[in-house]
Amino acid sequence: MNLKTSWRNQLWPLRILRAWLGFTWIYAGWDKASDPGFLTSGSPTFIGTQLSAFATNSPIGFAISGVLENATQIGIFVMLAEFAIGAATLLWIAPTWAAMGGFVMSLTLWLASSWQVKPYFLASNSAYTILWLTYFLFLYGSRRNSKVSVDRRGFLRVSTVVTIAVVGAVVGKLFSRTTSATASTGAEAGSKKIIEGVAIKVGETHNFISKAGTPAVLFRTKTGVFAYSAVCTHEGCTVAFNSASKNLQCGCHGAVFDPFDGAKVVTGPTNQPLAKIKVATEGAWIVES
Ligand code: FES
Repeated sequence: MNLKTSWRNQLWPLRILRAWLGFTWIYAGWDKASDPGFLTSGSPTFIGTQLSAFATNSPIGFAISGVLENATQIGIFVMLAEFAIGAATLLWIAPTWAAMGGFVMSLTLWLASSWQVKPYFLASNSAYTILWLTYFLFLYGSRRNSKVSVDRRGFLRVSTVVTIAVVGAVVGKLFSRTTSATASTGAEAGSKKIIEGVAIKVGETHNFISKAGTPAVLFRTKTGVFAYSAVCTHEGCTVAFNSASKNLQCGCHGAVFDPFDGAKVVTGPTNQPLAKIKVATEGAWIVES
């Protein structure tokens, strides 16, 4: 079935669903491609920072933690996949596979990023999971749509999708937005209690989850309290304090940071210090302000 016939032969409800899902997926890819911070470590919208936040709150956090060290590659894959699924859906190229891809991607995002959203219907990923599943089941019902012919025509059609995905990503980079979108990590307004002052002695550290939903480390010294994000500025793995060497170390690629000197880099591969987190003592509590 060619492109024109594919639209003409579809029922109106399916056409609406197909158009909405296809355009939305292309827009999602464009949104990432044109975000200058998405593949830039240290940025609030860096994919590694987002994955790190997901890993602390998701039922599939163990799986996310396992791939954190390849955050940039995952970001590129997700961006290209969104363009490809959107284009394949609109252009009727392996549409059943595209619908399956959209379903798997939405389900993964639901589990990873929106699982904590209550009530569940406020998380758009839950709705997209069901929309893609419904569309997939409709297409799968007419089996002939699920076939991708391995001939020259089939190769050309798949190549078209790959080309659109790559060109979309490159053009998005060329037209980068000047400001990054706000990180989708759900930062709260106002101060947040971290720990009671009596529960942490001078010389001790305390791991906590920041208002942005990312792991962080609190330090108490003779001069007061301070804290840093525990999200490594290389690829977003979580750093840990080593009490013997008195520094923060990343287990993924070996970056080391000095928490007593602004979390500056002691050893690469990154050259950006860890992000500082504002903390203060308020009454009996140490809070993130
Ligand atoms: S993620 Fe590579 S050194 Fe931390």
